[in-house]
Amino acid sequence: MRITMHVMGYFFERRPGEPPLVKGWVPFLGKAFEFGKDAQKFLSVHKEKYGDIFTIRIAGKYMTFIMDPLLYPYVIKHGKQLDFHEFSDQVAPMTFGYPCTRDPKFPGMAEQIQRAFQYLQGDSLTSLIESMRKNLIFLFQQDYLNVTEWRMEKMHHFCKKIMFEATFLTLFGKPPHANRHLGMDALREKFEKFDAKFPLLIMRIPISLLGETKTIRDDLINFFLPQKMAQWLDPAAFIQQRTKLFEQYELLGDVDIAAHHFAILWASVGNTLPASFWAMYYLVMHPEALAVVRGEIDHVLQLTGQEAGSGHSITLTREQLDSLVYLGSTINESLRLSSASMNIRIAQEDFTLGFGGDRSIGVRKGDVIVLYPQSLHMDPEIFEDPEVFKFDRFIEDGKEKTSFYKHGQKLKFYLMPFGSGVSKCPGRYFAINEMKQFLTLLIAHFDIEILQGEGPVKPDQSRVGLGILLPDTDIQFRYKTRIP
Ligand code: HEM
Repeated sequence: MRITMHVMGYFFERRPGEPPLVKGWVPFLGKAFEFGKDAQKFLSVHKEKYGDIFTIRIAGKYMTFIMDPLLYPYVIKHGKQLDFHEFSDQVAPMTFGYPCTRDPKFPGMAEQIQRAFQYLQGDSLTSLIESMRKNLIFLFQQDYLNVTEWRMEKMHHFCKKIMFEATFLTLFGKPPHANRHLGMDALREKFEKFDAKFPLLIMRIPISLLGETKTIRDDLINFFLPQKMAQWLDPAAFIQQRTKLFEQYELLGDVDIAAHHFAILWASVGNTLPASFWAMYYLVMHPEALAVVRGEIDHVLQLTGQEAGSGHSITLTREQLDSLVYLGSTINESLRLSSASMNIRIAQEDFTLGFGGDRSIGVRKGDVIVLYPQSLHMDPEIFEDPEVFKFDRFIEDGKEKTSFYKHGQKLKFYLMPFGSGVSKCPGRYFAINEMKQFLTLLIAHFDIEILQGEGPVKPDQSRVGLGILLPDTDIQFRYKTRIP
């Protein structure tokens, strides 16, 4: 009853300075249904009606959307008053099945987990990149480089198979007496089934209501039990550090530790797999773009005295990969078109959120502040013809383009697939590099064609707000090794 009164009070008593409240028809779900169907359209209709800042009651929560990207920096810099971890600490443990990291039983654990993210950057990143390069080459050599006649495959499946196994080997290491883990395909298939339910788990639907999902998650978690992982060779420093930190907590059981490792498996492939698909898809669907990217890769290979094609393995350093500006722009453009993540912050106190000058809004403790960068990515004032894939959109004067404008003002944030501020993805440098390596090997080694009548593929909206959208269907392509 008290909760109802509180909600009703909120509903009727908007305080001065608070943004307009958009009322939903269904009291509890509010606008969630409409939002889930087409978030981008839903928000632009509301923006038209209510302006750049408005509050919507979605699934029982008061969510204030900040639509003008020129205002993003004011939200992002309020890391203390607008906290991200309150949200992630509630949702991640339920989703992946480990106990809450901020439970007093585990003093300092949440902070240690955050600190361990540094092992995805700096010197450790260099080792990660080197290891990923070797693993990708190994998988290409084992499974693909002998394909001298056209072979057909499903594109999303192809990307998932390679990137899942290469990322797994890079992060978690190899089994003791072999180069590949047994059961990778089965593990990936279970991962995909779990991933299909991910949007429901994030909405806090109890896993017990989701059919076989609990059993699937248990199997995935059990893959990472400490006694098994102890035998794997050469895990990344990042995983070694996490293993060490979990061992300090006696009250954290083996299955809990395994669940933490499983969460990292999800973080490392959940977005990278579809992102790799979209970059490959857009290139193959745009032969003119593929030709330019191929020309740039061949040029660097020539400069470094390397030859692509069957039987050869190629090596490009991080600097050489970063010099491939058309490849970089293609990846940025495909991320722009496929990412639909939501940046969520929870207000820790009542305060006035200022936006420079005399513009501000009143925020109450517990309010959710939301940035939805897909509206920025699809804004025609910032990106001309935003629905169109333009592989060179992020290039200016032969270098990466970083100047994009709204209302004549330069934007600080114009591409946000990796989130922002306190919740920015710690794996972003690794992710971009993985994709560059995958695409470079693919393009250097193979002729690739889409089959006639295939496509177009559209983003499936079911995980809107949660990262890179999955393709709504798979698509056939054919490939064979290039004759140098
Ligand atoms: C294209 C690929 C990727 C995309 C688009 C992506 C995107 C994101 C986004 C948007 C967030 C923030 C989530 C939020 O605000 O709620 C995030 C968090 C995270 N990402 Fe990534 N990510 C990618 C790849 C990776 C990789 C390869 C790793 C490697 C391990 C990784 C590790 C993480 C972790 C650990 C977090 C949670 C950080 C925290 O709790 O503070 N990500 N990612």
